[in-house]
Amino acid sequence: MKFAITAGPTREPIDPVRYLSNRSSGKMGYAIAAAALEEKHEVVLISGPVAIAAPPQAKLIRVTTGEEMFAAVSAQLAHCDVLVMCAAVCDYKPAQYAPQKRPKERGEFSLTLVPTRDILASLTSVPHDCFVVGFAAETQQLEENAARKLAEKNCDLMVANDVAQPGLGMDADENELVIFLPNESPKKLARAKKTELARTLLKIILNTREKRLTKKT
Ligand code: C5P
Repeated sequence: MKFAITAGPTREPIDPVRYLSNRSSGKMGYAIAAAALEEKHEVVLISGPVAIAAPPQAKLIRVTTGEEMFAAVSAQLAHCDVLVMCAAVCDYKPAQYAPQKRPKERGEFSLTLVPTRDILASLTSVPHDCFVVGFAAETQQLEENAARKLAEKNCDLMVANDVAQPGLGMDADENELVIFLPNESPKKLARAKKTELARTLLKIILNTREKRLTKKT
């Protein structure tokens, strides 16, 4: 089966030396890629800038901005069976890019930000055949937010993680996940290494996809 997996952060440039980004390490997405490869699936890994090495058998596509990630994912959509959107895409970007380094001045300055394109929501709003998995990193109201994002972003499965807990989630080796499926009660995957959780998550993704396909036929 063919997987397209996004991982890591995106970066939105302010000027030639500065950017907006977030603390995503890419570890969860890379662990899912490794788990899929272990099971002999084909993996295209679309990755923002991270400091970790990609599994050598994955086809790695490096991107920086959200628009680059959108273009890369769009190109894969028609060819993959499962899309896992694990990347922490920046929700905002500077309204204008300054082509020269902004000089340091005394006093405050304001940066106007505009929303970025929601890659996931824009791709799932058009007909597609692949099974789509989203990720929701939350610091509060995890259940409500994840359930809302599952519906709003038209995903087949939403994985939520609490990123407010120290040592868990973003930029950590361990995670604790809650799986949301339409019309089912959430399923909690207890704290464990991301590599282990990725294997369990892969099984859940494939079982759910299989059930869906059997129902349709
Ligand atoms: O940031 P948010 O919580 O809305 O992210 C939930 C899901 O949407 C994630 O799977 C993320 O990869 C995706 N996303 C996206 N484009 C954005 C923001 C988030 O595809 N601009």
